[in-house]
Amino acid sequence: MTPSICFLLLSLLFFTSSTTGDLQPHEEGFISVVVSDKGLDFAKDILIDQAIASILQSQLPQIEKTVQVPLVGKAKVVLSDITINDIQVNSSSVNTGDTGIALVISGATADLSLNWRYSVSSWLVPIGISDSGTATVKVNDLQVGLAVNLRNQEGTLKLILLDSGCHVRDLSIKLHGGAAWLYQVLVDAFAGNIASAVEEAISKQINEGIASLDLLLQSLPKTIPLDETAALNISFVDNPVLTNSAIELEINGLFTARNEVLAPQAYHRGPDLSVSCGSRSPNMLTISLHEKVFKSGSSVYFTADSMQWIIEELPDQDLLNTAEWKFLIPQLYKKYPNDDMNLNISVSSPPEIQVTNKDVGVNIFTDIIIDVLEVGEIIPVACISVDFSASCAVEIVGNNLAGWLKLRKFSTHLKWSKIGKLHMNLIQSVTSAVLKTVLIPYLNSQLIRGIPLPILNGFALENARILYAPPWITVCSDVSFLGDNYLKQLPTYAS
Ligand SMILES: *[C@@H]1O[C@H](CO)[C@@H](O)[C@H](O)[C@H]1NC(C)=O
Ligand SMILES: *[C@@H]1O[C@H](CO)[C@@H](O)[C@H](O)[C@H]1NC(C)=O
Ligand SMILES: *[C@@H]1O[C@H](CO)[C@@H](O)[C@H](O)[C@H]1NC(C)=O
Repeated sequence: MTPSICFLLLSLLFFTSSTTGDLQPHEEGFISVVVSDKGLDFAKDILIDQAIASILQSQLPQIEKTVQVPLVGKAKVVLSDITINDIQVNSSSVNTGDTGIALVISGATADLSLNWRYSVSSWLVPIGISDSGTATVKVNDLQVGLAVNLRNQEGTLKLILLDSGCHVRDLSIKLHGGAAWLYQVLVDAFAGNIASAVEEAISKQINEGIASLDLLLQSLPKTIPLDETAALNISFVDNPVLTNSAIELEINGLFTARNEVLAPQAYHRGPDLSVSCGSRSPNMLTISLHEKVFKSGSSVYFTADSMQWIIEELPDQDLLNTAEWKFLIPQLYKKYPNDDMNLNISVSSPPEIQVTNKDVGVNIFTDIIIDVLEVGEIIPVACISVDFSASCAVEIVGNNLAGWLKLRKFSTHLKWSKIGKLHMNLIQSVTSAVLKTVLIPYLNSQLIRGIPLPILNGFALENARILYAPPWITVCSDVSFLGDNYLKQLPTYAS
């Protein structure tokens, strides 16, 4: 590392006092994403690979000079088709500090090829001589450094290039053909220009690369539609917090009704997040979701009246005909002989959700109305209120956080009836059948789709673990890169 570049970056990160005093009120995010050193290292390697791929085969501007060569005369030398064919990065590092992220590449090598031609005129040889050929250049010690910062700009992330530097410390030239004097001229008069051309090309690539990364970040959506009812607000909240071992991003993370702008929520700072995935095998990413994320989902779906189901089929279909109840509920059969029935289940208040240290506890309050279907008419005949609690185990499906409900217990009572008193045993067994064979399986079919975790397109969670740390659920995971084709696609979050 050139002392200048290194010092520049480090001073930028660690000694500059923070300039912008953020006066905006502190908002809280309910999803927090922490990218660890290991995650940053992984991202760095991908970025370096991408940068090298885009710089290879790029052509540097032609260089020409007229030089006075002793005993030969005045030579006009032109170097053209200067191409970077290969770059090998020996070592690189990424560091975070209070004010930015620094990436440093040291001791890289590069292979270049070029065409040369010259013409010499002198009073000795008035006709002039000329020649042309090729040469290769090996850059032996290339140092590159850059420092960036991430800021929140109206809910999206802005990537700012604070500084960058590139320095070629040593290069050697191998001439194919040509005269001995030409070699000396290239070394004496051109080596500096070749070095600057390489430095400029790489600096330009850094600027362009940062600009397109910034574009990618800016074009990330602020909400992810989940279905026709709800969307997840994935706006960033506050500026990313950089420490010397991680970057922490906060995301609003709450469900919102689709096509509806909710009044700004009052934020109350919850208990601080202090989950760590353990230092035994640190993961690249830690994504934590506050229980309020799930509560907001419960409230959005409830408000949208989408927690209502008509059940017309049961595994034991006979139960949905009054004939089956001939002896147990004589009044029902007497009033509506041999009629089909359905069950109208509606959730009567937003389901209660609580993250515990082993699962997510869910309490659901429902009314089950028993309807008799007479020709063209739906006649409600009884209403049972059913409160049940379930344990939801959280799991990772793809890049989504999904859940799996298991019924724990339920209680029932008869709210009203037009068909006389119903036996409690009867109500219980019907309710149990409905919950176990219809409602819970249905809810699970919805929950298994899960909610997308904020992972960039092109990356997949790998070896994810789930930790319950009430009121947070934390996903500790590594990620794998699926290839740059995915990155080039329309940038969105994977879902
Ligand atoms: C590259 O790294 C190896 C050790 O990993 C070292 O021996 C070698 O000198 C390095 N090359 C350069 C050009 O820095
Ligand atoms: C999404 O979250 C951001 C940041 O907290 C907030 O400013 C914005 O109003 C939210 N959008 C909706 C639709 O609730
Ligand atoms: C189901 O019951 C609710 C009342 O709990 C009622 O508003 C709704 O209209 C009923 N739906 C049908 C299809 O009967």
